[in-house]
Amino acid sequence: MASRKTYDRPDLKIPVSLGVIMDGNGRWAKKRLLPRSAGHRAGAENLKELCRNCGRYGVKYLTVYAFSTENWTRPEDEVDQLMKLFVEFFRKYDPELEEEGIRVRFTGDIDSLPENLRKVCREGEERSAHRQKMQLIVAFNYGGRREIVNAARRIAERCISGEIAPEDITEQMMSDNMYLPDVPDPDFIIRPSGEMRISNFLLWECAYSEFWVSETLWPDFGYDELTQAFEAYTKRDRRFGGLSAEDKK
Ligand code: IPE
Ligand code: IPE
Ligand code: MG
Repeated sequence: MASRKTYDRPDLKIPVSLGVIMDGNGRWAKKRLLPRSAGHRAGAENLKELCRNCGRYGVKYLTVYAFSTENWTRPEDEVDQLMKLFVEFFRKYDPELEEEGIRVRFTGDIDSLPENLRKVCREGEERSAHRQKMQLIVAFNYGGRREIVNAARRIAERCISGEIAPEDITEQMMSDNMYLPDVPDPDFIIRPSGEMRISNFLLWECAYSEFWVSETLWPDFGYDELTQAFEAYTKRDRRFGGLSAEDKK
């Protein structure tokens, strides 16, 4: 497969908002007889590459699933390593994100994280707030159901205070109460490592997302795989419940 990188592909439709479920670090490490932590490290490095490739291709919002509300059930030392890598990632790679014009934001139950991690999130967001090319949204301690429950609670409080009545609740109001209401719903969601499930990622937002599952494990998911995914996305006929342009004629 050709691996010379070109981002000048007017034949490709590039999703404005892209989601990536960064799965398969453990299997990548196992194949190499390495500890799982080595897989997570390789995965973090690959995230830097994905950011660069997506920014250059013209993606505007890249949401990556880094740690789910269910990942706390993993052994304590693996969770510790993932937290350390999270802190290290922004320390190590922020200059490159800066160079690529990438703003960093977080989505998830950030308020429940330990103070040192909340600080990394806060500082990362502040430091990069002026960057314009692409937004990297890191889903960390993220669960789609928790996000929906959080929105429901906020709306319920407004009902109790008498500000609104239950019949005033709309889909738009739910969307407005998600963690980052200004980020468009993902047009396209990529899941490396072959699993055909959503694993609690962007449940509300994925209502009309296109999906792509790749057998490649996340640490190996590079420019060629991303390009292949965009080629597939280009051919999708997004009907949103209506008719395709061809049938409307
Ligand atoms: C994804 O890789 C990283 C996180 C979930 C944090 P995994 O650790 O799930 O890798 P596999 O699925 O075991 O291969
Ligand atoms: C999804 O991967 C979460 C992240 C990639 C952060 P998991 O490995 O946790 O998902 P399951 O357990 O295979 O559904
Ligand atoms: Mg996994």
